[in-house]
Amino acid sequence: MTIADAAELEPVETASVDELRALQLDRLRWSLRHAYDHVDHYRKAFEAAGVHPDDLRDLADLARFPLTSKADLRENYPFGMFAVPREQVARLHASSGTTGRPTVVGYTKADLDVWATVVARSIRAAGGRPGDIVHVAYGYGLFTGGLGAHYGAERLGCTVVPVSGGMTERQVTLIRDFRPDIVMVTPSYMLNIADEMERQGLDPRESSLRLGIFGAEPWTNEMRAAMEDRLAIDAVDIYGLSEIIGPGVAQECVETKDGLHVWEDHFYPEVVDPVTGDVLPEGEEGELVLTSLTKEAMPVVRYRTRDLTRLLPGTARPAMRRIEKITGRTDDMIILRGVNLFPTQIEEIVLRVPELTPHFQCVLQRAGALDSMVVRIERQDDAPVDAAAAAGVHVAEQVKRTIGVTVGVEVVEPYAIERSVGKMRRIVDERPRR
Ligand code: DLL
Repeated sequence: MTIADAAELEPVETASVDELRALQLDRLRWSLRHAYDHVDHYRKAFEAAGVHPDDLRDLADLARFPLTSKADLRENYPFGMFAVPREQVARLHASSGTTGRPTVVGYTKADLDVWATVVARSIRAAGGRPGDIVHVAYGYGLFTGGLGAHYGAERLGCTVVPVSGGMTERQVTLIRDFRPDIVMVTPSYMLNIADEMERQGLDPRESSLRLGIFGAEPWTNEMRAAMEDRLAIDAVDIYGLSEIIGPGVAQECVETKDGLHVWEDHFYPEVVDPVTGDVLPEGEEGELVLTSLTKEAMPVVRYRTRDLTRLLPGTARPAMRRIEKITGRTDDMIILRGVNLFPTQIEEIVLRVPELTPHFQCVLQRAGALDSMVVRIERQDDAPVDAAAAAGVHVAEQVKRTIGVTVGVEVVEPYAIERSVGKMRRIVDERPRR
């Protein structure tokens, strides 16, 4: 494990809380003013809420400003949220969105520079160093994962291998031949790559990799333990979303692995009650809301991420607050006979059962008026069918005992579940449309 010493850090990473708050207030004033002056949507939304950028006297005043949602971005598709003339937009990205229009985001040259800086900072916090070889298996393209990781790794001074997602056999060949130190990839695709290593007769623990920087989808501490053991690496979490910048909004430090430090000099975090939108006190779980402090092309004010987490005090970077590992998105919450449940809770249980793999999906079904859920899980290759079936029964019991809801468990053959090359689809909705 490589821990950064103070001399390697950017000055802001070792700033005091007071210094950081002063910087944030300055930047927030600029950002609100920039949004109000240059984006119709914000001017109208601020006016409708009866607030003006000059009303921001201290950081707590931000709570008086209106929240922004994905719907606002969609309504202003494609370039309506931009605060600079299109000619100054150096790059576009877009999130696919399962329904309707994609969400488009834009960056000026200065925004791209900030992005590379925060990703470089993230990789360093994760334990990466100049000279490391970084295998990037996040998708390249409109998705922010590949290019975001790429320019950050270059900025840090690493040798980047821009593999993108897919062609899993080749991923394994390149890892074997180029001997990367670091892999940046979704955790579900890493599992897929590790399976392929084994299929090719390679021991994943013997690979050159020493560090995995995993994100773009929820994953649990149980998954971390499983990956660290299987691949003999340190596994740390990277968080971000296109609307805010892409990967590099928050990063877990390798020395503590205790949640993700938000790079608060560029992104201001709040946690709100997902129903009322009220700001919650530090430590309480709710929806993460982020405000950009320095973004030029597309400033975002109080953006509702739909990600559920809590804010915690800083540790490895004392002035920067942490978010706890994301439990899930509000849209991925399954409500089953009045009980709320997230796929991450199922992951925690499944990973403790040696006869089963971490490849599972939550399948929603409906019989008559009643919704039900079946957890479909692959058995381990070397687990006898009977033992795996018994393990499935055990999973159902654990779900009942710890989450308080009855689910079915179906243990299926190895490779029966679709493999992800990017973000894994954990929820499969087979309910007939009403
Ligand atoms: O997933 C950016 C990214 C790329 C982050 C690579 C990390 C690594 P979007 O496609 O816009 O951007 O999706 C953003 O993905 O709101 C979360 O719901 C989820 N997400 C991202 N990182 C994490 C994480 C990229 N570490 C959405 N843990 C976010 C849990 C994550 N969920």
